[in-house]
Amino acid sequence: MAVRVQGHVVDVFLDGLRTLPAEDLTGRAMRIAAGAATFNLRCAAESLGYGTWFGLAPYPEEPDLLARIVVEPTGARNEELRALAVQIPHRHTDRQPSDDGPLAEDVRVALMHAAYAEGAELTRLGEPEIHTVLEMVLDTDLREIRDWHRRAERAHWVGGERTTEGIPSSALGPRSTSYPATVRDLAAQPLDRMRQETTFEAHPDVAVLSTVYDEPADQVTAGVALERVLLTATRMGVSASFLNQPLEFEDLRRKVQHLTQRPGHAHMIIRFGRSRPGPHTARLPVADFLPTKEQS
Ligand SMILES: Cc1cc2nc3c(=O)[nH]c(=O)nc-3n(C[C@H](O)[C@H](O)[C@H](O)COP(=O)(O)O)c2cc1C
Repeated sequence: MAVRVQGHVVDVFLDGLRTLPAEDLTGRAMRIAAGAATFNLRCAAESLGYGTWFGLAPYPEEPDLLARIVVEPTGARNEELRALAVQIPHRHTDRQPSDDGPLAEDVRVALMHAAYAEGAELTRLGEPEIHTVLEMVLDTDLREIRDWHRRAERAHWVGGERTTEGIPSSALGPRSTSYPATVRDLAAQPLDRMRQETTFEAHPDVAVLSTVYDEPADQVTAGVALERVLLTATRMGVSASFLNQPLEFEDLRRKVQHLTQRPGHAHMIIRFGRSRPGPHTARLPVADFLPTKEQS
């Protein structure tokens, strides 16, 4: 994702240097990630005393422009977005085991409202549906064994010590003693496959984030809603990690949506838990998101 700031207009673009052609051929995951960044930008503007309005994928003839945010002075403070802005530095994917037991009802409702407020839907799965997702995870692992392109791509972005880009070994979390597991093992390098093993919670809280349609703008919407859900979770002491393997194959993605018993298109499978402090993925310096003078 790249950002261009012109006066009070902030444009969010696809970043052609950081694509995942094997895992994300259509760019859906990148649009989700850019949507998440768009929500962060809105929260940040709010925390500085500005309001925002925005359009998602505003020009079909310019497919790389994913969102245009217009920042303007405002008299009315949006306290909710200001409170979520505080959580931005604290939000991280958490692949550690969580305590067992469901999330409190008020937390679940707050997470559902967060998705709904941005035009998406968050549906909690029951135990039989989670079991079906795990069967799909097994299926995706079997499909990946033959896919060297996918494995090479993951090895490029995951593992080792990383201070700017990609996911470092330290953020992978422990391996699960059970298989298939409700935490994704992104390990791609031999040393990472020998990480310490641990038992994960037996009854995880798993939910699917969906939108009614699946146009590029809907995928950006899913990202905006995702970030609102994740920042709300962080604020309530709730951790999140993802189990999206089935969503990377269209046939399984349709089945995941079917499990929610709602019409629409699944974008994220999220495992919620209780936060524990753990290692995090480092952030790119802000300057790396902004085009250089020659590019702009
Ligand atoms: C569309 C999308 C799908 C993702 N799917 C997964 C996933 O299935 N499993 C996982 O562990 N992380 C997944 N990630 C999370 C990334 O790995 C995460 O952004 C990365 O670990 C950076 O860490 P952070 O969340 O702490 O910023 C996904 C991210 C995006 C944007």
